[in-house]
Amino acid sequence: LTAEDIYSINKGSLKDAIVSFGGFCTAEVISSQGLILTNHHCGYDAIQEHSTLAHNYLEDGFWSKNRNDELPNPGLTATFIVRIEEVTEAALAGITEGMPEKDRVAAIETNLKKIRSSAKKEAWEETLIRPFFEGNRYFLFVTETYKDVRLVGAPPSSIGKFGSDTDNWVWPRHTGDFSLFRIYTGPNGRPAEYSPDNIPLIPRHSLPISLDGVAEGDFTLVFGFPGRTQEYLPSQAVAQTVETLNPTRIEIRDKTLKIMDAAMRRDAQTKIQLASQYATIANSWKKWIGESQGLKATDGVGKKLRFEAEFQARLQKDTNLKAKYGDILPTFGQVYTDLEPLAKLRDTYREVFGNCRMMQLGLMITAVTKEFDTKGETGYNDRVGRVKDALPGFFKEFVAGVDHDVFAALIEIYCRNFGDANLPEFVKGNIKKAKSYNNLADIFYGKSLLLNEKTLAEVLNMPADKATKILRKDAFFRFIEAIVQDYSANTDPKLTDVNTKLIPLQRRYMAGQIAAFPERKFYPDANSTLRVTYGKVSGFEPRDGACYTPYTYLDGVIAKYIPGDYEFDVPQKLRQLYTDKNFGQYATAEGKIPVCFMASNHTTGGNSGSPAIDANGNLIGLNFDRVWEGTMSDINYDPSICRNIMVDARYILFIVDKFAGATNLIQEMKLVHPKAKN
Ligand code: ARG
Ligand code: GLU
Repeated sequence: LTAEDIYSINKGSLKDAIVSFGGFCTAEVISSQGLILTNHHCGYDAIQEHSTLAHNYLEDGFWSKNRNDELPNPGLTATFIVRIEEVTEAALAGITEGMPEKDRVAAIETNLKKIRSSAKKEAWEETLIRPFFEGNRYFLFVTETYKDVRLVGAPPSSIGKFGSDTDNWVWPRHTGDFSLFRIYTGPNGRPAEYSPDNIPLIPRHSLPISLDGVAEGDFTLVFGFPGRTQEYLPSQAVAQTVETLNPTRIEIRDKTLKIMDAAMRRDAQTKIQLASQYATIANSWKKWIGESQGLKATDGVGKKLRFEAEFQARLQKDTNLKAKYGDILPTFGQVYTDLEPLAKLRDTYREVFGNCRMMQLGLMITAVTKEFDTKGETGYNDRVGRVKDALPGFFKEFVAGVDHDVFAALIEIYCRNFGDANLPEFVKGNIKKAKSYNNLADIFYGKSLLLNEKTLAEVLNMPADKATKILRKDAFFRFIEAIVQDYSANTDPKLTDVNTKLIPLQRRYMAGQIAAFPERKFYPDANSTLRVTYGKVSGFEPRDGACYTPYTYLDGVIAKYIPGDYEFDVPQKLRQLYTDKNFGQYATAEGKIPVCFMASNHTTGGNSGSPAIDANGNLIGLNFDRVWEGTMSDINYDPSICRNIMVDARYILFIVDKFAGATNLIQEMKLVHPKAKN
């Protein structure tokens, strides 16, 4: 592979096969007719949307046998990158060192507007400018977004979500986490809204799929849209994450998940209602636990401290560097000390509002009453529609008894973390009157109008002044509003203050690191733009005496099989194929079906659905997860324990062909044998 093979503006290159899938995942083109591959968990909402009791695609899978069966998904998009240009000079024109941060932000905003309006692009294309290296460099992306993306195929959840939450983030892994979609264009080949007259996209490039797989030590490349990493923070930031912030978030989610889990085990209906929320809350919760453990196990803080010592030593040897960057590390110490208690309050606030559904609903409504206070009736009317639209979906997944217990548990933590001095009188008064958090929950969940979808909708339909008056007579709503108002009046401004100091410091530290270590290559942090990462297929030692090999096989799926279990059931058809060894052309030389493999690619959330590509540009797998021991890679990538997890392309083909019988799809793909050639 040459750089030109990966990214070219003159010919079709790998980048022309990669799309941002709905803005939250990645997908790749795998046929000359716009067929794209992504994860099952990325396509999940679309699959769920089309599922009914009569045809439950989540449960049974879905396979279109011809184009007419493919299912449209309003709102779902696929975005290609047409080209990327560095625009740092124009973005930072007129910016001077030491300029007040506010003026800098405003000046850059003006510059970016100019760049955007003068960028060469076609009518159907869009532009996007993003800062890199903490704002030291800027890049322009010209993009092309397709709006007609149809569901083509998905395995049943017992394959696509096999292992569910128990196996999430875990190796050894056996999940067939994939689904298939197709991009459609207008008859002229350009992006267009859904129409039955649309035609399949003819891509500039599509990925051939390798039937040969990869072996330990082989090169792998992952191409996609990772969300966010923070590799260049100072030691204090890492220490704060391990010692204060992760424990704060984890404690709140621990409590929430325990309450939800108990209720879901007691009642099947509750389980259906809460399953998706549970999976979302548990996903980050589990990641943070792994992150803290990994940072401790690899001495993440110590590594940063040693790097900082070397940084200071290099500054000492160079008066120029010292004059420019000498103040940074000492200043970080003070700023992070100021930030710590505030960041803890911020995370407490976010987590309490994020995990208690009534608090979430209340927060949404405070945005409306606040608009009323500042802009009157028009402000209220502009905002209230969003809340009204959200109500049916909100209540569909709401279980009052569970939320009652979550509220009682989380408000207790909230009060403890904020402390008496930082709580509004109204809140303290309510708690004192109720005598216990549980009594308080009884009172609120017993009679608040927030709990009643119908009444609440009626109130929100009333004229603004009347609705606001009724809402503010409701004790629960006023309680939530008091917390929100207090936080934005007292905590938020202090956070903004500290961040105003932190942002330029971090920007200068990044520049300082690059200047002081000229021999080192610095790669930019992920920021949801197109990014390439490479590594090798390799296992690792998760703990003393234990060793993970990099491949799993269908034998492992069968070994995990628990009949009827919601996480580990295996479809009868798949068991039969296994017994019959009916593997077609997809088995290894040893006659086994590979399922998942891992490699040392540096990936993060958003890389789900990204292709794993071999040294010849062929698709060998589909990224969907990382190993738990190495989730700290978001702040401190360490090749000894950080691994990404992919489904092997041969498992995907085997499921499509042998399990689903969707040979129509196999026929439009290009299957290759790169290893047979030499
Ligand atoms: N851990 C993966 C990610 O961060 C997969 C999440 C979806 N799967 C699940 N079992 N919740 O998105
Ligand atoms: N599952 C993640 C996603 O949906 C990818 C795994 C990770 O965080 O690296 O983006």
